[in-house]
Amino acid sequence: MSDAEAARIAAEAFAERFGQQPDGVWAAPGRVNVIGEHTDYNGGFVLPVALPHTTRAAVARRDDGLLVLASVQHPGEDAEVAVGDLEPGRPGGWAGYAAGVVHGLAGSVPGGLSILVDGDVPSGAGLSSSAALSCSVALAVRDLLGLDLDADALIDVARRAENDFVGAPTGVLDQSASVLCRAGSALFLDTRDGTREQVPLDLAAAGLALLVIDTGTTHDHAEGGYRERRRQCEEAAKALGVDLLREIDDVAALAPPLAGAPDGDVLLRRARHVVTEDARVLQVVAALREDADPRAIGPVLTAGHASLRDDFEVSVPLIDVCVDAALDAGAHGARMVGGGFGGSVVALVDADAVDAVTAAVTDRFAGESQPAPRTFVVVPSAGARRLA
Ligand code: GLA
Repeated sequence: MSDAEAARIAAEAFAERFGQQPDGVWAAPGRVNVIGEHTDYNGGFVLPVALPHTTRAAVARRDDGLLVLASVQHPGEDAEVAVGDLEPGRPGGWAGYAAGVVHGLAGSVPGGLSILVDGDVPSGAGLSSSAALSCSVALAVRDLLGLDLDADALIDVARRAENDFVGAPTGVLDQSASVLCRAGSALFLDTRDGTREQVPLDLAAAGLALLVIDTGTTHDHAEGGYRERRRQCEEAAKALGVDLLREIDDVAALAPPLAGAPDGDVLLRRARHVVTEDARVLQVVAALREDADPRAIGPVLTAGHASLRDDFEVSVPLIDVCVDAALDAGAHGARMVGGGFGGSVVALVDADAVDAVTAAVTDRFAGESQPAPRTFVVVPSAGARRLA
């Protein structure tokens, strides 16, 4: 769908719900991470691309002090609350991501806002539909109210909405990708100091495609495993005498201090994932910068999956089945994306093998009595922007 059409549809839905035209329409994309998983909250490196799929926010100012939120994807789940009464967890559900942004900027939202969101980022698939929502609203509020917020401040507002208002302990990967990514490039981001570089990624020119396979297994990292992994990384860093695991670049340095720590074996494996994953990001970026054949990054992606599966232990059996099936069908590399515990797999495949790989994965899923996964090819797309 073109930006113009997406804006028209969102504006129409807004007019139907609120009986007036919106003041504008903004969009922010979901993301798929090429490599660099569970590194962001360790101050490490990430390399995401933006999806063509976005969340659109159609917004108008109000003068009654209310925040009114409606979603095309969540009919009957509108939220209406005075801006001054917003507090973490209230409203909850989908509306919390938008409300959290407004809460974070509440001092700057005098009269209230009407917000209608519409989107096509698959939710619960590890593709950052929540960041697409929070970033689209953050950009809308900034532009509409003329707030002096640069990209880093926007990312921070969106991340705090998720961390502090919704209570999802994410790092900064998803929001950074949604705001900073550009069409045709992957975003190489150093999460420790925010340094970034757009790395051109034209896989089609090399006869390749980045295939996303949404396995349909749900992931819920608002609690549980994700939170525990963060804690373990902090513990490992402490035992190693560093603030962030990013500061360590030699796996050989991990064993001696961690071996003696309580849960030393677990902490060692968690830290080893982070340290080797940072190295994998650098390896992939170097290969892409050198204009080497991008097929060379395939085995690095697959090694990243093995590390997430065995050392970080955030994969699940169906994701592993999916990765194996893609590799068996000729993918150059494949790995789970996002926080884990379900969600999607990304595979680097020859463009003319997309159908064969999709069919092979679908067959393997049928053999496991699982419904066919949803698949699509990602073209690195634009970051958050005003549509109308
Ligand atoms: C989720 C989080 C991100 C990041 C990834 C794992 O998507 O929101 O901050 O930690 O998991 O790389």
